[in-house]
Amino acid sequence: MTRSPNPVLDAVLTRRSASQLTEPAPGSADLERVVQAAATAPDHGRLRPWRLVVVSGDERARLGDALAEAADTPEQARRAAAKPLRAPLLLTIVHRPVADHPKVPEWEQLAATTGMVTTLSLLLHSHGFASIWRTGPAVQAPQVRKHLGVDDDEQLLGWLYVGTRIASDVADRRSLDTPARITWHTAGI
Ligand SMILES: Cc1cc2nc3c(=O)[nH]c(=O)nc-3n(C[C@H](O)[C@H](O)[C@H](O)COP(=O)(O)O)c2cc1C
Repeated sequence: MTRSPNPVLDAVLTRRSASQLTEPAPGSADLERVVQAAATAPDHGRLRPWRLVVVSGDERARLGDALAEAADTPEQARRAAAKPLRAPLLLTIVHRPVADHPKVPEWEQLAATTGMVTTLSLLLHSHGFASIWRTGPAVQAPQVRKHLGVDDDEQLLGWLYVGTRIASDVADRRSLDTPARITWHTAGI
């Protein structure tokens, strides 16, 4: 395989989740462009079984209110309310599978949605933005789902928090230990 400069390989190897994000985040035109590109990720049946709810500006505080409502204790509510403020832009990931599809079972549709999100995070990274996919029990909370308009037949998969990595947060390279997970059945070739 070529060892010459490879921007795709470089993006894959240098992307790291960023737990603290600040401005700038992509504007709407840039965001639409990367989402369109991410939508070309493998997707059996080309069902695009997902949609995104963009939350930014003051709407982050409103989402925080919904997260707080879903919390069990006042302390948890206080922390939950501040969570959406950890990034300038949140992409709510809503999985909307086509039920009883004759060829594409729901697990394949979930695989397509997660492939899109991974591709999106790589594309954002290649444009200089950082992100982190965050989930948690709030994805099941009726208050949160209602606030975001998530229907009963849809699954809330969390949020891709997007922005710019803060300078003090260094993105370490991950060790490449994957070959231990490859089993070869290749005798005779
Ligand atoms: C489906 C999914 C859900 C995740 N949920 C959380 C989360 O709730 N909180 C969090 O800190 N990170 C979450 N992450 C990010 C992972 O922790 C992160 O990808 C992992 O630690 C590897 O780090 P890296 O992305 O920098 O390689 C999630 C990632 C995925 C794929």
